[in-house]
Amino acid sequence: MSADKPFLRVLDGAVASGPPPVWLMRQAGRYLPEYRAIRATAPSFLDFCYTPRLAVEATLQPIRRFGFDAAILFSDILVVPDALGQAVSFETGHGPRLEPVTSESDFAALRTTLDLDRLAPVFETIATLKALLPRETALIGFCGAPWTVASYMVAGRGTPDQGPARRLAYADPALFGRMIDRLVEASITYLDRQFEAGVDAVQVFDSWAGVLPVGEYETWCLEPLRAIVTGLRRLRPGARIIGFPRAGASQILAASRTGVTALSLDTPVDPAWANAALPPGLPVQGNLDPLALIAGGAALDRAVDRIREGLAGRPHVFNLGHGILPETPVPHVERMLSRLRGGA
Ligand code: CP3
Repeated sequence: MSADKPFLRVLDGAVASGPPPVWLMRQAGRYLPEYRAIRATAPSFLDFCYTPRLAVEATLQPIRRFGFDAAILFSDILVVPDALGQAVSFETGHGPRLEPVTSESDFAALRTTLDLDRLAPVFETIATLKALLPRETALIGFCGAPWTVASYMVAGRGTPDQGPARRLAYADPALFGRMIDRLVEASITYLDRQFEAGVDAVQVFDSWAGVLPVGEYETWCLEPLRAIVTGLRRLRPGARIIGFPRAGASQILAASRTGVTALSLDTPVDPAWANAALPPGLPVQGNLDPLALIAGGAALDRAVDRIREGLAGRPHVFNLGHGILPETPVPHVERMLSRLRGGA
């Protein structure tokens, strides 16, 4: 099944003979004028995510423009708390807002399992995409990792240091642990349904893994990731799961022992180190600096080359180290692709 999709061949352990397959985290979004145009037609960001016609179109836009090797489902990690009954909204210019969960009684008000009817438009979006994507383009589903999702559930918003969740985890590890367990179960169900609807692989985004000291990282990031991998593979033995604990080298090395299919590297992780230190044959994704993509020019070319050289000989999917930024010039994405693909 992976034969005609270069992205899947690499996830299955092949080293590309030519240019590496490429996609970009947050490749659908505000840096594209055609995204801003359709985004303006929806009353709210969550409505946008739950309208298959719009989510399908947003997913396809970067594929049409750039011919990336993988499309990522257009949605958000915060649909999971939404489908657990927590009020979620997005305020333009301010990011997500949630009714914070900080006590036993707040937690008791949540659903015990996901409201799959609420998520039905997501599965419809996947099924529609499956029929529309070019045969060589893979489809990636995703969820947020329990720690990162919990950091929004507890704080009720994005925070610079995830302080509210870190404090709750120290002060009441039993309550925080039950929240994480609930998210592990919800993530397994959600990813299983995404596979059923047609995704080829999934990525688990742990965007805020990098703030935790080692013991906390083990408890709140690694153990839940291991549990998701084990639980999902029990339902789907061959499931391809990309882990993205956005953190440093030692945390990445530890994450290589969770059973994930591949690891996505944040920008500061040295690709040459990763190539030498990670288990042989483990596919790696990454890790261009989103700021190098904004800078463009010779600095961008050098950054692209250095990553390719560092990961030579290992299965490698080219990507950013974190999501593309809204101010990224479209011609710089084109330059990155022609550098990668060996053009002028
Ligand atoms: O990658 C893709 O193209 C698929 C879509 C996708 C979005 N969010 C769309 C989005 C994915 C994979 C995400 C994941 C996500 N969402 C993460 C993990 C990855 C990461 O970047 O760290 C996180 C932490 C979130 C939570 C979230 N969603 C925040 C903090 C914000 C507001 C900040 C911002 O960029 O505006 C969002 C909103 C959001 N999610 C937008 C998009 C395109 C912008 C909203 C808009 O268009 O109005």
